[in-house]
Amino acid sequence: MPEDRDFEDRRFYGRRKGRPLRKGQQQLIDTLLPLLAITLPEAGKLDPRSLFPHNPAQVWLEIGFGGGEHLAEQARANRDVGLIGCEVFLNGIATLLAQVSASGLDNARLYPEDARDILDALPDGSLDRVFLLFPDPWPKRRHADRRFIQPANLDLLARLMKPGAEFRVASDDPTYIGWALAHLVRHAAFAWTARGPADWRVRPPDWPQTRYESKALREGRQPVFLRFTRR
Ligand SMILES: C[S@@+](CC[C@H](N)C(=O)[O-])C[C@H]1O[C@@H](n2cnc3c(N)ncnc32)[C@H](O)[C@@H]1O
Repeated sequence: MPEDRDFEDRRFYGRRKGRPLRKGQQQLIDTLLPLLAITLPEAGKLDPRSLFPHNPAQVWLEIGFGGGEHLAEQARANRDVGLIGCEVFLNGIATLLAQVSASGLDNARLYPEDARDILDALPDGSLDRVFLLFPDPWPKRRHADRRFIQPANLDLLARLMKPGAEFRVASDDPTYIGWALAHLVRHAAFAWTARGPADWRVRPPDWPQTRYESKALREGRQPVFLRFTRR
């Protein structure tokens, strides 16, 4: 039945919880998260600029921010940008909240659920930059449909990104890198901006490191940093 297929398509396969939260982390989840968490409208679209107190010049969105190091650093470095972070892993959300609180950031908002739900709710051409950093690789072939990069999700991002907006993707998994490039290079809405290996093997200075990148480097894997422009 179509309803069953829809449900399957929207299933989330990752972890929602890790080790028990420390007291301070739980406090942040109880007190700060309700102030920053985005609630989707029952009907109609969500104007992302209205989520921020300062009517930001641009809105950037990160899918699966993990511990939030990249998102917090981008928010600190770009105070006139509104950042939306999506993550379902509670321990990661608590880690980001600690950084938001310590730095007094007022330009970060969180969607603590499946990113695809908020993407569905955003209006066309409302995002200036999208980050997908070290997404779960799901390396087995039979799990390929769990990878975030899928034609339907790329169509969705293409709809949401302004012309000229940037899509940044990082990975250290050879299967995922090949998969991402194959899908993005053949998608009519995205242009790969790479000029050569020296370009995609070096993380640009305005691209803060994530903990998955540090882990990959510690374990001897070479990450790549791919940038695509919305045509
Ligand atoms: C391998 S981790 C990488 C985390 C972080 N980006 C980094 O580089 O350190 C992938 C993260 O994406 C999150 N994730 C996967 N699919 C997601 C989705 N559909 N919506 C929100 N978060 C998602 C997972 O919970 C996980 O924390």
